Amino acid sequence: MPASPPSFSPWRTRWFFVCPVDLMAEDDCHMTVDLPELSITLQNFRGTLSGFRNLCSHQQLPMRAAGLGRGPLRCQHHGWTYNADGIPVGIPDGDEQVDLDLASRTVLALRQIGVAAIEGGIFARVEDDGSLPDAAWLAETELAGATRRHAMTRRLPAGSPPPIDGSTLGNLSVEVMGDFALLGWVVPQGPDAINATVALYALAEAPDEIPAETKALYDKAARGLEQAAG
Ligand code: FES
Repeated sequence: MPASPPSFSPWRTRWFFVCPVDLMAEDDCHMTVDLPELSITLQNFRGTLSGFRNLCSHQQLPMRAAGLGRGPLRCQHHGWTYNADGIPVGIPDGDEQVDLDLASRTVLALRQIGVAAIEGGIFARVEDDGSLPDAAWLAETELAGATRRHAMTRRLPAGSPPPIDGSTLGNLSVEVMGDFALLGWVVPQGPDAINATVALYALAEAPDEIPAETKALYDKAARGLEQAAG
């Protein structure tokens, strides 16, 4: 009997929303996500976003723990450092591979994933097939250029839906309220859990003061998330 093809979770086979662009706007900002089957890491290299499987070429160990951070793409184990193409450009003195030439280092480049920054959102896809996420609708929210006013993240069981109702794109929901946008999104935290976030963003022309109704909606979503997390 022929072996059946491996079945992968949608997180591995589709574009998904990682975070709003402001979270990774600065040089060296990075975000690492543990998908059910593998881990990925995204990095801002002087304004260019790149993404890789979070597996070091040196000893095939995870380079980073999940979450947001800032610093060069340097493996936590023995300090190999990678550039925007995933090539190990920094191998510490004393490492037996320190004298590798560029051609040999290029062979050791990290496996790239698909990354796209579109309409204020950052999206990732493990298998980069040259496509782009269908995120044109996000333009209507004017998230690009928006400012985060409030946010909360909690860990929930895997399979939990985005923490607010609204226009849904897979793992992201957005509800626009005048000059503000309420976002809710989920990303995996390994095979058994997800991180769920609710965030209130002020759009470009928003006043300093958040209208009471808008703040009440954010508070309600945050309370619901808190309760879901137990
Ligand atoms: S496993 Fe990454 S530097 Fe050794």
